[in-house]
Amino acid sequence: MPGLFISLEGGEGAGKSTVLAALREVLAEGGREVVCTREPGGTPEGEAIRELLLAPGRDLVPEAELLLMFAARAQLVRRVIRPALGRGAAVLADRFTDASFAYQGGGRGLDAGHIAELERWAAGLRPDLTFLLDVGVAQGLERARSRGGEPDRIESEREDFFERVRRTYLARAAAEPERFRVIDASQSADAVRDAAVAALRTWLGRAP
Ligand SMILES: Nc1ncnc2c1ncn2[C@@H]1O[C@H](COP(=O)(O)OP(=O)(O)OP(=O)(O)O)[C@@H](O)[C@H]1O
Ligand SMILES: [Mg+2]
Repeated sequence: MPGLFISLEGGEGAGKSTVLAALREVLAEGGREVVCTREPGGTPEGEAIRELLLAPGRDLVPEAELLLMFAARAQLVRRVIRPALGRGAAVLADRFTDASFAYQGGGRGLDAGHIAELERWAAGLRPDLTFLLDVGVAQGLERARSRGGEPDRIESEREDFFERVRRTYLARAAAEPERFRVIDASQSADAVRDAAVAALRTWLGRAP
């Protein structure tokens, strides 16, 4: 059984972590191993990099932010994702390289060509299927903030940053309609979950 690599993308508070739990159950039907990852992080080294990336008050320049994201991702691909795919598992990733195009490319304004180059050699693989949970910036931020806790360094960005992130995600989805499934994440959590589960079942060739 070949492995499956599926990613979940979207802005702050779009509901990625909420949907992930439902998709995991669908993938596990029939006894398949499912490995869930989150970014930045997902390995001990990657989690250390995550702290550096997200701690409020750090003064990271955009280039350093991009390279640290890919450092964590390189580690995650080689230590977790490739081995899991090699065992025939389904890998369900809470963010992957599309997030770098959206945040460090669209948000920070870094050149997409540099990011594509890093994608080729540092990541070295692309998801088979990507869910983009799309929600208005204000609505997503309100949800993320209602979870409580201090906002991290990236969550503390201004709304125009997140508008650029959203636009970049939507442009990538439009450019690769075969890989992307865009879900209207402004709906209730139940409706978002149902839409994502139905899209996954269709993609897997299973009855809804
Ligand atoms: N469709 C929805 N409607 C209302 N609330 C939602 C919806 N989806 C998720 N939530 C709630 O909004 C908050 C953010 O959801 P979640 O953590 O799943 O988002 P996320 O995309 O993983 O966010 P982050 O980018 O910060 O990891 C949570 O408190 C969650 O319970
Ligand atoms: Mg989350």
